Amino acid sequence: MQDVTDLAFMRVMQQFGGPDYFVTEYFRVHTDYTIEKKILRSITENNTGRPVYAQLIGQDIPALKRIAKELLQYPIAGIDLNLGCPAPVVCRKDAGGGLLRKPEKTEDIIAALRDSIPGKFTVKTRLGFESHDEFIQLLEIFRRHDLDTLTIHGRSVRERYQTPIHTDCIRHAVEKMPCPVIANGNVVDVETGIGLLAKTNAQGLMIGRGAIRSPWIFSQLRAAIANQSIKQVLRSDLLEYITLLYQEIATQTSDFDETKHVHRMKKYLIYIAQGIDDEFEHQIRRVTSADTFYLTCREFLDNNEPVPSRPPERSKIFCGFDALRR
Ligand SMILES: Cc1cc2nc3c(=O)[nH]c(=O)nc-3n(C[C@H](O)[C@H](O)[C@H](O)COP(=O)(O)O)c2cc1C
Repeated sequence: MQDVTDLAFMRVMQQFGGPDYFVTEYFRVHTDYTIEKKILRSITENNTGRPVYAQLIGQDIPALKRIAKELLQYPIAGIDLNLGCPAPVVCRKDAGGGLLRKPEKTEDIIAALRDSIPGKFTVKTRLGFESHDEFIQLLEIFRRHDLDTLTIHGRSVRERYQTPIHTDCIRHAVEKMPCPVIANGNVVDVETGIGLLAKTNAQGLMIGRGAIRSPWIFSQLRAAIANQSIKQVLRSDLLEYITLLYQEIATQTSDFDETKHVHRMKKYLIYIAQGIDDEFEHQIRRVTSADTFYLTCREFLDNNEPVPSRPPERSKIFCGFDALRR
């Protein structure tokens, strides 16, 4: 995830169990693009013990091929193409989710990258630009190009992040695709993760926001699948997670500035605070120093109260996940 899945975040995730593999923030490729050092570090300094895929976003075929070739010199698990980013600045340039409006161009890019990547080449897509009705045609394209994995965020670009997931579309892709399909969207706890797997038959899950809120989600899902007991997360666990995240990100920041760092932490805290008292989020949004940041965290989290497994349905950041439980 952009501005989230950097080296520090990956390391913290790993300390709580972590995913089977990571995907970098996207390298935003254009004609004169040179590889961003910060993103490259999550490949060259990845000591999580888990493989990392390098994700590309862009629409300039020669540039995409050039950057893919350069990245192949580093220890990556494979190259992933982003066809899902809904940010207007990206879509306007016909990159990310914007490419889904241009199926022919999308196919040319996939064909060119497949042709020039000897190792694993994967695609992360949404279901369409305007609507999931576009997915049948897109699926035909994906089927033609020998992908190693297709990851599907089960929404159109227009749906952004606020709707339930079209599980029927992912299930259809699982039936039609010759490669493994990974389901993505709205997994916030064990029940929604198992629900998404059951509804789609997908070979795996990709988890984004749910992992920022609760990094235990990966080990909890593994335990559930292995019929083992599932850890109950306490507020004091969250405090430990936040402290680790604060320190790890600080360690990886070359020009550390306390105020900037506290503001950066708020981005993560907005996810973590969902389901904790409203007053916690309210206060954390206003802190400006490390002292007040930690004081506020300790005031609300330094106790052994259990954290609800799911955030409230229709919280600011998470909604539509209840459909995965039925
Ligand atoms: C802050 C943020 C940044 C994201 N950046 C990326 C990205 O760089 N590449 C990508 O494929 N998806 C990105 N996504 C989308 C997520 O990977 C995922 O598809 C989406 O959030 C739905 O899954 P979730 O409900 O598990 O979060 C981003 C999402 C968020 C919230």
